[in-house]
Amino acid sequence: MAATQEETFKKLVAHCKEYGFVFPSSEIYDGLGAVYDYGQNGVELKNNIKQYWWNSMTLLHQNIVGIDASIFMHPTVWKASGHVDAFNDPLIDNKDSKKRYRADVLIEDQLGKIEEKIQKEVDKAKKRFGDNFDEAMFRQTNGRVLEYQAKWDALHQRYSQAMNDMNLDELKQIILDEEIVCPISGTRNWTDVRQFNLMFATEMGSTADGAMKIYLRPETAQGIFVNFLNVQKTGRMKIPFGIAQIGKAFRNEIVARQFVFRMREFEQMEMQFFVRPGEEMKWFEYWKQFRLKWHKALGLGDDKYRYHDHEKLAHYANAATDIEFLMPFGFKEVEGIHSRTNFDLSQHAQFSGKKIEYFDPELNQSYTPYVIETSIGVDRMFLSIMCSAYKEEQLEGGDSRVVLSLPPVLAPVKCCVMPLVKKDGLPEKAQEVMNLLKFDFKTSYDEKDSIGKRYRRQDAIGTPFCITVDHDTLVDNCVTVRNRDTMLQERVNIDNLHEMIRKEVDPKELYRKLMD
Ligand code: GAP
Repeated sequence: MAATQEETFKKLVAHCKEYGFVFPSSEIYDGLGAVYDYGQNGVELKNNIKQYWWNSMTLLHQNIVGIDASIFMHPTVWKASGHVDAFNDPLIDNKDSKKRYRADVLIEDQLGKIEEKIQKEVDKAKKRFGDNFDEAMFRQTNGRVLEYQAKWDALHQRYSQAMNDMNLDELKQIILDEEIVCPISGTRNWTDVRQFNLMFATEMGSTADGAMKIYLRPETAQGIFVNFLNVQKTGRMKIPFGIAQIGKAFRNEIVARQFVFRMREFEQMEMQFFVRPGEEMKWFEYWKQFRLKWHKALGLGDDKYRYHDHEKLAHYANAATDIEFLMPFGFKEVEGIHSRTNFDLSQHAQFSGKKIEYFDPELNQSYTPYVIETSIGVDRMFLSIMCSAYKEEQLEGGDSRVVLSLPPVLAPVKCCVMPLVKKDGLPEKAQEVMNLLKFDFKTSYDEKDSIGKRYRRQDAIGTPFCITVDHDTLVDNCVTVRNRDTMLQERVNIDNLHEMIRKEVDPKELYRKLMD
């Protein structure tokens, strides 16, 4: 991360705490590693993200329904899904610092360093050649770039192979050959690479009765698979159809870092779309396109997204891609789209001894459906939005402000009503205006400090509209509406306020965009 981006990210984390978005968990006891609580503004933003996702699935697709499965599941679920045997991270310790790392992350960081070197060459050339610069041509012909690219390709190939084979000795050898050092001790004194299972285990029932070892779910998806027949039968669902779910998941992440990006307790929004065998690639493409459109519709900037197709596929997948977002620490996965074949349903059929099939009346045959999964982390989505919204602006006259340019539809508070002064009947009028709006929009009221300070407080939490009631309001029924982004003010009749705000914050406008 470049120094300035790192500083901005630190400021964003501090801002999230100062303005009630995210707090470290159990902070009065010095916190708990990689566990966070959402505050009064954070929870509103998070709920708005969830609502946007939920409705884009269940409102816009008549063949998608939702469920809410429990976190605790029968332990055999995780045996069948492969998580007991294969949900592991390859770990390596540095013997001098005693710090533990994920071997794959160390190697990926090394790949990232080579990418940075290439980018530096490109940026230098861009500066030199100005408007005439042909980046694609430069990348194909520049000697130094080609040298770095060849190095990257070779390392990537070796790394992918080692990960595919889960060859732990080879992972260690790559770390040694690449002369990767521990960021803390600066030494190359590494242990062997070992496997570490990421699931949290606990016990259900009293020990006297014979307690059962159960797991906190590491993904919400399995709750959908085990309910496939329940939903299909009771909902009379016809293939293709989907089941959506939002819920908590838990992973004992070893390298938990970058704030809410990688946590031990997090929230997922997952949808499993059940299709005919052989049609999975068509639907994989559909969901790839639709999910990217969903992200882009928020207007955070089309250039901030890219696909990353997987070469190393999870044990259940025959195709997979990530949607990555440009965070201050580089392009990072926010969502995964996976073609999971019929692996999960077949496994559950085998382990439970139940027949889990679908009778297709058009084909007049039964089969185990194939599955396309879309899986997005609420917290990562939250972080991507906060990162792109956080701005420090210098204003005319030497003043400055911190503003969150959140998509209005997601903003925690849509409007704040303020009486110019705390007397002359203005607070009462302002309350009246607030009461007009509060049933449709999350509205707040603020009468403390100067108007300027009140504007800054609302900018800092991303409120799109500030509505000031002044003495003229009592005469002309108009208020001053100040726009968060342009800071322009306009007089608006109170009767027109509702429609003005609705146009900007109504999620229906977004849903329409998705259906275009
Ligand atoms: N059911 C498939 C599945 O869980 P995944 O790629 O492991 O796939 C899906 O996770 C999404 O969940 C990721 O793209 C990410 O947004 C989110 N996620 C995964 N681990 C996370 C963590 N430790 N903290 C926050 N979000 C996480």
